[in-house]
Amino acid sequence: MTEKKELVDLDWKNLGFSYMKTDYRFISHWKEGSWDEGKLVTENTVTISEGSTALHYGQSCFEGLKAYRTKDGRIQLFRPDENAKRMEKSCERLMMPAFPVERFVDAVKQVVRANEAWVPPYESGSTLYIRPYLIGVGDNIGVKPAPEYIFSIFVMPVGPYFKGGLAPTNFVVSDYDRAAPHGTGAAKVGGNYAASLLPGKLATDRHFSDCIYLDPATHTKIEEVGSANFYAITHDDVFVTPDSPSILPSITKYSLLHLAEHYLGLKVEERDVYVDKLDEFKEAGACGTAAVISPIGGIQTKDDFHVFYSETEVGPITQKLYETLTAIQFGDKEGPEGWIFDV
Ligand code: PLP
Ligand code: COI
Repeated sequence: MTEKKELVDLDWKNLGFSYMKTDYRFISHWKEGSWDEGKLVTENTVTISEGSTALHYGQSCFEGLKAYRTKDGRIQLFRPDENAKRMEKSCERLMMPAFPVERFVDAVKQVVRANEAWVPPYESGSTLYIRPYLIGVGDNIGVKPAPEYIFSIFVMPVGPYFKGGLAPTNFVVSDYDRAAPHGTGAAKVGGNYAASLLPGKLATDRHFSDCIYLDPATHTKIEEVGSANFYAITHDDVFVTPDSPSILPSITKYSLLHLAEHYLGLKVEERDVYVDKLDEFKEAGACGTAAVISPIGGIQTKDDFHVFYSETEVGPITQKLYETLTAIQFGDKEGPEGWIFDV
C-alpha cells in the first residue's frame, strides 16, 4: 500500500501516549458458537448488557501492536501473528472463544488501511498504536463464561510511552504484586492492569516512571517493569531477561533475544535476575510495544538506589538494540523472515 490519503493535521513529532478517536474500528460479535463476519464502524462506543462478564468478573483481554510508516510511504506491521497467538492463549485462560489468527491479522490490516490518514509520517518519532480487545458480554449474573463475546480493534497515533523516549528514566521496586504464581500474569487480561494501577500511581507520585514488580512467590527476583518486560546487559556482554511463568511473554523481548544473539553477536540468557545482584549489569532497560526500548537509569529498592550505565546517557548496547529493532520495524533494515507484514 502506498501513501494515498492526505494525512490528518497533527503535531506528529510531539504526540504522547493518549487516546485519540480515529475514523474506523473493526468489530465482530460471537454468538451461539461462531464469530460473525465483522465490519468497520465509525462509532467509538460499545453498548453491552449490564450483566456482561467483562464488567463484573474481568472476562476481558487485549493486545497492543503498531503500524509503522516506511521511508517510501508504505505501511507495515511488526509480527501481528504473534499478537493473535498470544490473544488465543489469553482467551484460553479466561474461557473465551479466540478470534482466529488469520482473521485477526486481516482485521488489523483492514483497520489500519481505513485509518491510513492517521499513520504518522516516517521519522516523526510516532507510530499507529493498534489495540485489539476481546470481552465477555450478554445477559448474565453467575460466575461463568459469558453467553456472547465482542472482538474489536481500534487505533490511534502515539508518541513515546515513557517521557523522553530513548532517554533513561528511573523506576522503583513495588511492594505489590501484579499477578500471583499460577495466576494470570502470562496472559494479557484486564485484571492484571487493574491490579497495577495503585502500585503505578505510588511510583509516579514519587516521580519514578513506573514500578518494577518482583516475583510474587519470593520477592527476590525482577519480573516486569510496569507494562513492559525487563532486560539487562552483564559486564561481559550477555543479554539477560527474566524467566518466569508470571510475566507477560513480550513479543518485543523475544525479538530482542533474537536480535541480540544473531545481529549483535551477544550471548543471551533467560534466567533469574536477583534484585540484590544488580551490580552484575552495566545496562538495563524496559521493552515492549508501547515502551519500545526504554533505558533504565536507576532502580530504587527499599534501601538502595542502583544506577546502571547512567541516569542521563543511553548505554551503547541499548542504543544498538534500539537502532536494530526500530530499523526493522520502519523498513530500513531486513528483519528475520516472517517478522514484517505489509498492509
Ligand atoms: N509486559 C506487560 C505487562 C505488558 O503489558 C506488555 C505490553 O504488551 C509487555 C510486557 C510487552 O509486550 P510486547 O512486547 O508484546 O508488547
Ligand atoms: C503495549 O505495550 O502494547 C501495552 O499493552 C502496554 C500498555 C499500554 C498496557
